[in-house]
Amino acid sequence: MRGPFRPRRAEDTKVYTGCMPHPDLEFPEAEGPVEAPALVDRLGRPLRDLRISVTDRCNFRCQYCMPKEVFGPNFAFLPRSEIMTFEEITRIARLFAERGVKKLRLTGGEPTLRAKIPTLVEMLREIPDVDIAMTTNGTMLKTLAEPLQRAGLDRVTVSLDSLDDAIFRSMNDMDFPVAMVLEGIDAAAAVGLPVKINAVVRRGVNDYTLLDLARHFRGTPHIVRFIEFMDVGSTNGWKMDEVLPAAELVKQIDAAFPLEPVDANYTGEVAQRYRYRDGQGEIGFITSVTQPFCGTCTRARLSAEGSVYTCLFASEAGADLRAAMRAGASDEDLGALIDATWHARADRYSELRSASTPGTRPHVEMSYIGG
Ligand code: GTP
Ligand code: 5AD
Ligand code: SF4
Ligand code: SF4
Repeated sequence: MRGPFRPRRAEDTKVYTGCMPHPDLEFPEAEGPVEAPALVDRLGRPLRDLRISVTDRCNFRCQYCMPKEVFGPNFAFLPRSEIMTFEEITRIARLFAERGVKKLRLTGGEPTLRAKIPTLVEMLREIPDVDIAMTTNGTMLKTLAEPLQRAGLDRVTVSLDSLDDAIFRSMNDMDFPVAMVLEGIDAAAAVGLPVKINAVVRRGVNDYTLLDLARHFRGTPHIVRFIEFMDVGSTNGWKMDEVLPAAELVKQIDAAFPLEPVDANYTGEVAQRYRYRDGQGEIGFITSVTQPFCGTCTRARLSAEGSVYTCLFASEAGADLRAAMRAGASDEDLGALIDATWHARADRYSELRSASTPGTRPHVEMSYIGG
């Protein structure tokens, strides 16, 4: 098995001009005063979301993300000096917000493992008009939900792949029980944080337990989203055979609990939304393999060490903002780097995947870049 791939840093960022609007799309104008022409990439996609990885470490070893054989006791995680400080993260997030970003999502690895994470939320809260969300495995929420909410977090997405304890323990590969995650979800709900649940679907592994997951959260305000197993990274042994097309799962769930589609909340929403016809809530499907959504992808990713990635499946890093900051770059300099990176963006990996052989190109690991 190949080792995990961390791309070399880009020495410089090529600047492309002459953006072409994506033919299928109309993005609504960002709200509020617009002082400069909207920043769009080479396919006409605006910049709306920033996913911030705050650590590359995790207490789980999900086989589809951080398999133990690779991320073992000798794995060299980033040393502390390489990880961005909260001040650096906040400064970059503010610059992205000035360029149209409306949603900040804290990810990892596992973001709750980063010491004093509520302090970062408090600092990001000072940025006007941004939604602040977090994707977490939920194990630390029992103690952290309240301080995170108080710091200004708007909502959480908790990963939970199965309610079957044996299957869940084996999927996280660290023997964490389902009960601990459910406690975390309850703690988040108790302090008023809206909750979504993410379940990665692997055919033959947890597919036959998903109806239970849907049933469990039916009738609650929590929205379960089923994610097709993706060929992200280079270490998770991805095989197309293990991808259960969302369309099949929709049929399965619809047969038990009739569903009807719901319009997206916003252009570029990742999940396809459905509601239970009997009014018992909402579920979603993330179809990145069988029905890619690159055409509306407005997401930039910031790695824990401060490089910008313009695609989850990147094989090269974008601008190294941390190096620039530590070399004394001004906000204008950093802003110009961000602009150049977004202008140069033409990524649409998932759309191209079907036309190529997946897994033949090294990709950055998801635990490094954030989900
Ligand atoms: P909200 O709509 O704000 O709740 O967020 P979201 O749908 O972005 O939620 P979340 O961050 O939980 O994303 C759900 C999952 O979808 C991720 O964990 C990934 O597995 C997948 N995903 C998110 N963004 C992308 C993307 O840009 N490309 C691909 N291929 N998959 C993505
Ligand atoms: N395919 C699909 N989703 C994945 N995630 C991690 N690895 C994969 C993969 N290979 C999901 C996690 C979590 C989010 C961070 O990304 O389950 O919900
Ligand atoms: Fe950790 Fe999330 Fe990756 Fe699982 S999917 S190993 S919980 S970062
Ligand atoms: Fe966006 Fe890349 Fe995912 Fe396509 S594959 S939706 S471009 S992150």
